[in-house]
Amino acid sequence: GGAAAAGVGAVAAVGMDAFAAGRASDARAAAEAAAVSGNGPRTIPFHGEHQAGIEMVPQAHQSLVSLSLKPDTDRDTIRRLLITLTDDAARLTRGTYALADSEPELALVPARLTVTFGFGRGLVDRVAPGAAPAWLSDLPAFPIDRLHQWWNGGDLVLQIAADDPLTVAHAQRMLLKDSRTATTVKWVQTGFRRAYGSERPTRTTRNLLGQVDGTVNTIPGTDDFAGVVWRGATENPAWLAGGTGFVVRRIEMLLDKWDRLDRTGREQSVGRRMDSGAPLTGRRETDEPDFAATSPSGFPVIAEFAHIRRARTDDPRQRVFRRAYNYDLAPEVGQTSNSGMVFTSYQHDVTAQFLPIQRRLAEVDLLNEWTVPIGSAVFAIPPGCAEGGHIGETLFT
Ligand code: HEM
Repeated sequence: GGAAAAGVGAVAAVGMDAFAAGRASDARAAAEAAAVSGNGPRTIPFHGEHQAGIEMVPQAHQSLVSLSLKPDTDRDTIRRLLITLTDDAARLTRGTYALADSEPELALVPARLTVTFGFGRGLVDRVAPGAAPAWLSDLPAFPIDRLHQWWNGGDLVLQIAADDPLTVAHAQRMLLKDSRTATTVKWVQTGFRRAYGSERPTRTTRNLLGQVDGTVNTIPGTDDFAGVVWRGATENPAWLAGGTGFVVRRIEMLLDKWDRLDRTGREQSVGRRMDSGAPLTGRRETDEPDFAATSPSGFPVIAEFAHIRRARTDDPRQRVFRRAYNYDLAPEVGQTSNSGMVFTSYQHDVTAQFLPIQRRLAEVDLLNEWTVPIGSAVFAIPPGCAEGGHIGETLFT
């Protein structure tokens, strides 16, 4: 089908580039990659109106890297940095090694690699004071927050994602090597979904609480998606047209506490079944929840404080595109889990779309008993660029 055809095209591109560079070993590696039935050779185009890595079925692995600009990194240095990183990202996402790549063989399995750049308030202010959209700052503090300073903020974020964790690691290493004169690493948040090939890639993933997570979400490739996510040409500031807003929330899951909750309680907390992800008023995952339905004893079937009731409104503006990854790290001494979710969402206006949802959830949401936000950051994702251009160029004009 289409995926297979795209894969073959990508293989040809990788192979030709390797031959052009005169490196027989690269050609051999590309041929090996082509021999497997997996998606190692598949590529996602880097250039375009919008940055890659957003309007797509999420890859299996992701690393979010937040960088702080060094104090003496000025506007010209930032521009040179973005030119270099754009070049690296464009090459790596095609399955070609970056300039000065010291492990070039690791670049030959793109596995749908994407690199998406986001700017924090600090970067925008340093390049073009006054050019930041009003929402580009820390989110207000919510009563549920237990933020650790080291998971917050940053001047430049790189969302590096692929279906192969080795590909992600290599891209991250390359990009960080080329960033180190101008930036320092603030935080890195890695995450995973189902491994590629374990399930149909379009199947809704599960989080570490065991829930089907991501059912109600705007669908990539639709007009609806464009309306929720991409900034229009008439929105201010103009440099962000074709870009979007990016919210990162690191949310810890209290798994030991969750273990003590029975299945009914778990289903009540969200308003959906654990097995199918169907709403408690329906049978299939995609059934519309019936928020008015009541039990024989008169209680709402979907609890008043269930996550899906609290997360939804009739206001069509209050919608976001969610892209969540699981994290599962080594427990700290005396603990048995260090797990949670790297929640991210894309929306063209963080204040109008994300904030009201988060405010409602912070006020009341049964799920808050088992989930604790420990990190928070907001970035502006600039538009994509054409070949020869660089990410962020509209901010410099
Ligand atoms: C729906 C889990 C945090 C917004 C859901 C669903 C689950 C879930 C299981 C139902 C299935 C689905 O439609 O995807 C979680 C967990 C969280 C979390 C475990 C934290 C660890 C958040 C946050 C937001 C959010 C921080 C936004 C501020 C939504 C929205 C829906 C949703 C908008 C769809 C509601 C609808 O049916 O219209 N979440 N969520 N969630 N969640 Fe969350």
